[in-house]
Amino acid sequence: MTRGLFVSFEGGDGAGKSTQVGALVAWLTGLGRTVVRTFEPGGTALGAVLRQAVQHGDDVDRRTEALLYAADRAHHVATVVRPALDRGHDVVTDRYLDSSVAYQGVGRGLGADAVERLSRWATDDLLPDLTVLLDLDPAVGLGRLTGAPDRMERAGTTFHRQVRAAFAARAAADRDRFCVLDATRPSEEIAAAVRDRVQALIGPVST
Ligand code: TYD
Repeated sequence: MTRGLFVSFEGGDGAGKSTQVGALVAWLTGLGRTVVRTFEPGGTALGAVLRQAVQHGDDVDRRTEALLYAADRAHHVATVVRPALDRGHDVVTDRYLDSSVAYQGVGRGLGADAVERLSRWATDDLLPDLTVLLDLDPAVGLGRLTGAPDRMERAGTTFHRQVRAAFAARAAADRDRFCVLDATRPSEEIAAAVRDRVQALIGPVST
């Protein structure tokens, strides 16, 4: 049996990832594929506890924060992502390890390489086949959010500009894995561009 396709969506807060995750999952499902839609942090029962602690709990220092995201990811990969891929199912996740590199590695100043190593260890080196980066000016993204801001959303514009630059630098360094799209484009155009990249990975689609 062939392994399923693993796609992650990344980008700043308010970039429209969940809409695009939904569109891709619907398209893949319509092709007759079995798709697991998931997210980080919090895509498992243990992850929900970790998410609550890291997003909405008391302030935690930056190393603790990085370890909480990494613990969430390790459990998510071991219990959800890898078993699904091994069964031949596709997995589409809203955020993955590039978020840790951008937010904790660069935004919090822990170092991109150190945080990447931590996540690579946590996931036993599982990388997505494709990572869609929805690029957006944080001033626009944060303005789109509704509800009370969480710890990350309160981190300030300078922090979020660094995060955006970090995502862009990672994408520029690995064009094979990344697909960078302007998140201000109409949502249907973005979805079509994502489908084009996915189609190139899964081969001709008979409709
Ligand atoms: P979430 O409510 O899922 O926001 P979004 O809709 O923007 O994805 O919260 C995820 C937050 O956690 C977001 O601000 C980014 C942050 N985050 C990290 O800092 N590091 C990580 O490794 C991950 C997965 C998320």
